[in-house]
Amino acid sequence: MRRDTELESSLVAASEREVVMDATLRPARLADFVGQRELVGHLEIVLGSARSRGQVADHLLFAGPPGLGKTSLAAIVAAEMGATLRTTAGPVLSRPGDVAALLTDLAEGDVLFIDEIHRLTRAVEEVLYSAMEDRRLDVMVGRGPSARSIRLELAPFTLVGATTRTGLVAAPLRDRFGFVGQLDLYDVDELASIVDRSSRLLGVDVTGEATRVIASRSRGTPRIANRLLRRVRDYAAVEGVGTVDAAFAARALDVFGVDVEGLDKLDRRILGLLCEQFAGQAVGLTTLAHALGEETATIEDAYEPYLLRAGLLIRTPRGRLATERAYRHLALQPPGGGLV
Ligand SMILES: Nc1ncnc2c1ncn2[C@@H]1O[C@H](COP(=O)(O)OP(=O)(O)O)[C@@H](O)[C@H]1O
Ligand SMILES: [Mg+2]
Repeated sequence: MRRDTELESSLVAASEREVVMDATLRPARLADFVGQRELVGHLEIVLGSARSRGQVADHLLFAGPPGLGKTSLAAIVAAEMGATLRTTAGPVLSRPGDVAALLTDLAEGDVLFIDEIHRLTRAVEEVLYSAMEDRRLDVMVGRGPSARSIRLELAPFTLVGATTRTGLVAAPLRDRFGFVGQLDLYDVDELASIVDRSSRLLGVDVTGEATRVIASRSRGTPRIANRLLRRVRDYAAVEGVGTVDAAFAARALDVFGVDVEGLDKLDRRILGLLCEQFAGQAVGLTTLAHALGEETATIEDAYEPYLLRAGLLIRTPRGRLATERAYRHLALQPPGGGLV
């Protein structure tokens, strides 16, 4: 089943260069942020109310699969509040002293963004509890018998956390957020409007129909939509094409191994395993992860949401099953009986 035209790297993870590209295409204000209407509506209320009271906004937690706009929202919150954004990430803050240094350095109104907040150590989380709740920090100074605890007052600040799944965040930490926003996969119309905006920012001429071709292969994910747009732009440049129409966009994406469902290599391996090796049996997440040599979290957070949404996979109490649609997509014969 291997196809050599498949992309080298997974479509879901962001490469380092891409982080820079993300920044250029990132919506700056809430009004530029496409989709997630309910979440955006709630944020408008939360931020608007804080502004009118002249206070800092409540702590906010954003959850959802990679590439859906969590980091963008953190920056938007700061922009809407006219505040300075300070950015860090769970894996970087390994010691309580790291987070204490960061917190005591905050100025009034600052927005502190902690990406991958579910990856904080327990000791660091504990420092955050009193910082979030009472804006104070108890730090130990000295060692041994002369050690004592001193209490520091912190400037009013807003903590914005991002995580792939709220269930991964320890309950006591989660409870200290005044607002939890869940981001969902985007529909084709929303992705098309993101591709349209990005094509103008990148100066590529793409027809409306071509925009929809790119959107429909983007796995419900803005980051992927922008990535596919850049690949189509590259191919257009090489082929000397001025205006990208639907047929050209489809051809360019075929060249890069992005199929009509927008599935990447790991998506196809997941479905291939379910359809072939496990021959239509329900497979537990751990078994699946082992067979693929991937982390269970990668599969659960970055891959399954789209496969479920596209109707290619279902979850049953006994495990994951490929649907008949998945067999058809892989051009395989579905086994008789017991199929969905
Ligand atoms: N709602 C949106 N509207 C427009 N562009 C978006 C939206 N959400 C994400 N993007 C684009 O996708 C890219 C990845 O978003 P990001 O905020 O980094 O996602 P996450 O932090 O959830 O992984 C951004 O650079 C931005 O260009
Ligand atoms: Mg991010």
